Amino acid sequence: MADKDMAKQVKWWKSAVIYQIYPRSFADSNGDGIGDLQGIISKLEYLETLGIDAIWLSPVCRSPQDDHGYDISDYQDIDPMFGTLQDMETLIAEAKRHHIRIIMDLVLNHSSDEHFWFQEAKKSRENPYHDYYVWRDGTEGEFPNDMRAAFGGSAWEWVPEVQQYYFHQFSVKQPDLNWDNPKLRLEIYNMINWWIEKGVGGFRLDVIDQIAKEPDKRITANGPRLHEFLRELSRETFQKADLVTVGETWGATTELAKLYSNPDNSELSMVFQFEHICLDQIPGKEKWDLAPLPFLKLKEVFERWQTQLYGEGWNSLFWNNHDLPRIVSRWGNDEKYWAESAKMLAILLHGMQGTPYIYQGEELGMTNICYEIEEYRDIETLNIYRERLEKGYTKEEIMRSLYARSRDNARTPMQWSDGENAGFTAGEPWIKVNPNYREINVAKQIGDEDSIFSCYQKLIRLRKEYSVFVDGIFRMLCRDHEAVFAYTRENDDYRLLVICNFFDKPTANPLEKPEESAKLLICNYGDTVWSTTLRPYEARMYMEDKRR
Ligand code: GLC
Ligand code: CA
Repeated sequence: MADKDMAKQVKWWKSAVIYQIYPRSFADSNGDGIGDLQGIISKLEYLETLGIDAIWLSPVCRSPQDDHGYDISDYQDIDPMFGTLQDMETLIAEAKRHHIRIIMDLVLNHSSDEHFWFQEAKKSRENPYHDYYVWRDGTEGEFPNDMRAAFGGSAWEWVPEVQQYYFHQFSVKQPDLNWDNPKLRLEIYNMINWWIEKGVGGFRLDVIDQIAKEPDKRITANGPRLHEFLRELSRETFQKADLVTVGETWGATTELAKLYSNPDNSELSMVFQFEHICLDQIPGKEKWDLAPLPFLKLKEVFERWQTQLYGEGWNSLFWNNHDLPRIVSRWGNDEKYWAESAKMLAILLHGMQGTPYIYQGEELGMTNICYEIEEYRDIETLNIYRERLEKGYTKEEIMRSLYARSRDNARTPMQWSDGENAGFTAGEPWIKVNPNYREINVAKQIGDEDSIFSCYQKLIRLRKEYSVFVDGIFRMLCRDHEAVFAYTRENDDYRLLVICNFFDKPTANPLEKPEESAKLLICNYGDTVWSTTLRPYEARMYMEDKRR
């Protein structure tokens, strides 16, 4: 194929839908209570039925599991808890048979303190690996500065052997890697190329905007050398194959996103940014300080990303991941309008431009959990509980924050059936199953045309059927409406219309009835005639074929 045609060809990941698996909580094959690779292999058929194109696999490399795999001690081996390297190769091959690619989670900002590099690095300042990490001189008890780690406490940890502090943006067991060191960068590239040769379909890059830190200037995200590093990384690895790469970039603006995801492929395929997620975060406060969700702001943020990135970058479309509370418990209604609101949120998101991500269980409308404090497992949750108790918060206040924000909301076991432990394990699950598994589970939804699962399945199918999902121009409708989120997407051939009532009250329909020729693609109520009233959480998607 001539280069020109190649360039014109639409990248596969633009029409793809990606499914995220948090392996510990997905499917356990051997009864030890922890999900594993064989468990995933046994569910590939389920995923093919759903229709997804790729799996983003949260980390499965060898790890002491301080942050559940986001602390890697060997990038080229699989943690025995999840299986073997052989299992990983089987997963890649079997997934391929089901037309699914495997996207590895690369944690390149930090390693585990149990990684060989760090074990060496802390031995002496002269050790060849010392400079793989970020050190500062000092005296014990006097931190280089007052920077804090994301999981609580100082970002600096003293090592007596070298009489220095090392820098860690996350837990003490996650020392930050020093990207200024070209030798470290080369080791990373070799490791990535080794995975590419194993046939993975791409990579998700954990907190990639934080690799170019400059702690002396208190810079963590978006450091001055970040894009230089990313371009080198991409050139030395990703560009050698037809891969998808997605960067976790918490603080990206649309301008920065155009650098990260420039269509010239010099850095990454797309960003995974959180502006639409962080709307209820009060500036200067922590995520545990709860605030109401601002609907008009949500519309503003989506519109800005949809319009400003058009033709100049590529975004991820997501509501959930392993760090976030369940969307149906957040913007939706996990009681009376559970199914309606879960479907509405899906329909709204899947009509937009970008690559949709479905986080395990989202396709069933899985909800948040209220555990006893002893039942939480997440390091961030347990740390903040302790920290806030010390600061004088009441237990009730803290628990309210955990119910709303704990990462464990996303990490309850996948609900496969109404059998014991939701069919997740034959043993004792590592974290308690959500008791609502009797009502919310795969077995109950998979053959039911009216289920949330079927709604997701249909949305995935539609994305492949109509080009307008990939390249249509976004236009917001009734921008200032306080309850309705409506927009169109349009290309030469089609005009897509999406209209959603975001709340639990009926509201007057602000739009004119679409043309007779427009086809109703999907709706979350059985009775589908156009009406001047939108029912609670009502969502509709219409397609007009302009060539007719
Ligand atoms: C990312 C991951 C999160 C992890 C953190 C540190 O935000 O999604 O789970 O704790 O990075 O690696
Ligand atoms: Ca297991």
